[in-house]
Amino acid sequence: MSSNVVLAITGASGAAYGVRLLQVLLAAGRRVHLVISPSAATVIQHELGQKIDLENFSVDQLLPQIDEEDSRLQGTAESWNDEMAISSVLDDAVTPRGRVVFHNHGNFMAGIASGSFRTDGMVICPCSMGTLAAVAHGLSTNLIQRAADVHLKERRKLILVPRETPLGSIQLENMKRLADAGAVILPAMPGFYHEPKSIHDLIDFVVGRICDQLGVKHDLFRRWGSNN
Ligand SMILES: Cc1cc2nc3c(=O)[nH]c(=O)nc-3n(C[C@H](O)[C@H](O)[C@H](O)COP(=O)(O)O)c2cc1C
Repeated sequence: MSSNVVLAITGASGAAYGVRLLQVLLAAGRRVHLVISPSAATVIQHELGQKIDLENFSVDQLLPQIDEEDSRLQGTAESWNDEMAISSVLDDAVTPRGRVVFHNHGNFMAGIASGSFRTDGMVICPCSMGTLAAVAHGLSTNLIQRAADVHLKERRKLILVPRETPLGSIQLENMKRLADAGAVILPAMPGFYHEPKSIHDLIDFVVGRICDQLGVKHDLFRRWGSNN
């Protein structure tokens, strides 16, 4: 075990899944090698109201200090944008212990571009159909695609969290191709059997299922069968 996990956030809707996963992995003490695509930065700003500067990144841009007085934490959000704002996605009971190593998406000099760099796996969350197609066909045109290709060839855990609906035949074929190559296709498709009370419960369901795949212990949702 290396404690290194690669997390790529791409430009599919559902940026909150990626941010929450980052927080949970850090709380679990993992060293997270983070790559954010330019489209993901656009989606993060649109969905979570947070500006990401990819040329001058700091983790505070994704995991800002949470203001205790923030109305969003007091359950008084007045709009969808307030409820989904980044501080609302986070849970300040979870204190980061791990470390973030940020890599620019164009930096092929990064360790994660090579199979000789050891990791415990990679997650692309959320995963756009564009990145999914590129990985399915081994294009490696940016660091996210290259690191994913490396995980496949090294037979390491690669988890893709696609978000799209409905799905076309090309997208389904690409997912099948990746699953056949050993990747885990884990769609951002929360269940409802754990009786979610909030959007956060739905996010945590998906993030918890990703953690299950990575072998990261968590308590993010009540498991089926845990009461009987
Ligand atoms: C607000 C917004 C939401 C998007 N949602 C999705 C989505 O849910 N799924 C998807 O595959 N692409 C989505 N896209 C399109 C991707 O961002 C686009 O295809 C982009 O080229 C993906 O690049 P990347 O894979 O390098 O991040 C969205 C774009 C925007 C601006």
